[in-house]
Amino acid sequence: MSRRNHEPRGVTVEALKVALLGCGSVGTQVARLLTVHAEELAQRVGAPLELIGIAVRTLGVDRGPDIDTRLLTTDAAELVKRADLVIELVGGIEPARTLILDALASGASVVTGNKALLAEHGPELYEAAEAGGVELCYEAAVAGAIPLLRPIRESLAGDRIRRVLGIVNGTTNYVLDKMDAAGLDFADAVAQAQALGYAEADPTADVEGYDAASKAAILASLAFHTRVHADDVHREGITSVTAGDVASARQIGAVVKMLAICERTVAADGSEGVSVRVHPAMIPASHPLASVREAFNAVFVEAEAAGELMFYGRGAGGLPTASAVLGDLVSAARNRVGGSRGPGESTYAHLPVRPMGEVVTRYHISLDVADRPGVLAQVAKVIAEHGVSIETVRQQQIPAAVSDAGEQGRASLVVVTHSATDAALGATVSALAGLDIVTAVVGVMRVEGED
Ligand code: HSE
Repeated sequence: MSRRNHEPRGVTVEALKVALLGCGSVGTQVARLLTVHAEELAQRVGAPLELIGIAVRTLGVDRGPDIDTRLLTTDAAELVKRADLVIELVGGIEPARTLILDALASGASVVTGNKALLAEHGPELYEAAEAGGVELCYEAAVAGAIPLLRPIRESLAGDRIRRVLGIVNGTTNYVLDKMDAAGLDFADAVAQAQALGYAEADPTADVEGYDAASKAAILASLAFHTRVHADDVHREGITSVTAGDVASARQIGAVVKMLAICERTVAADGSEGVSVRVHPAMIPASHPLASVREAFNAVFVEAEAAGELMFYGRGAGGLPTASAVLGDLVSAARNRVGGSRGPGESTYAHLPVRPMGEVVTRYHISLDVADRPGVLAQVAKVIAEHGVSIETVRQQQIPAAVSDAGEQGRASLVVVTHSATDAALGATVSALAGLDIVTAVVGVMRVEGED
């Protein structure tokens, strides 16, 4: 081996110019860590990283002691032109999209945490990175600090991923956890999440599942080497989850979690596709995802050769997310110094996205019914007519004071099904709702995790 091979690579004299767009909780931590760890980062990259500016919407806001106010500018477009590496933490579609495209076109690699932009305009951004001969990195876009995209994209590049299943939204996990562990109702749990800074003043993106859907689209695209757009994701939020659903879950030894599920599917003719969905579901209390508490995230990846892998950690927050941003920054900067580039978009599989109706799942159906002879038989008949098999049935009389004190008593009937297509299960619920003997469909929730 030549002597040269034993020598440290050293640090080149010329610094790489870094532009930071956005100075919220993540941006502030990125700026701080770039300063605090400057020397170590330079050693890891092989060149110093020089923060040349921080683009903000307005000047004159107190940004705390970690931000050098001389770096602040409101002219993001001008800042991008001078950079070798651009960190986009503005969020939203515009101006983030244009700024990233300009950066890539000018030859700067881009690090972003912008899941909504990637899920809607990923192909356009990748093409711009390819044309510019630079990198587009976004580990921070999914599950915050958890190293997840790089393992999927690089460590598992030789394997075949079958399924990605996880909790990718910390806010909804916090809300559901408080509904379960502290008995809060949905509104109180959201208010508590807002007070702690997990949920935004307008919590729509989290509680309606938009944030999780963007992340699921990104995960599915990477896992299955195909393009999945945000609109391809079946999305249901947690706004209709009630204290009653959480209590019902407990009665069957389960908990309610907001899940993102990306699966490789095989049709009867052997053709492959993917299904991607985010929705609340009951999972067994013994499932590892059931013990993911507070605002934590956890993701299972099932691959043919590797088997099951689980990734767990903080999915949000300034400092944890800054860790993911800096990991990408060091990697892109190191590649730049070495004259190489990380992997680009991989979409050779061109898999169709299968409709939700074809997804195979299980349902927990909670009904109020008349308590008289033959009712259970009628319910069972309707379920069987739809080709759905019952796993368990639990019946409980509703006390007279709770029922309408009417001529006949009422009972609560809880049915958990075996696996069937979502279309068959949905049609079953509609048919049950139409029966005279069914006073109300109190709750319907998918059951995941086991059959
Ligand atoms: N709002 C997200 C969450 C974090 O609650 O997990 C950013 O994606």
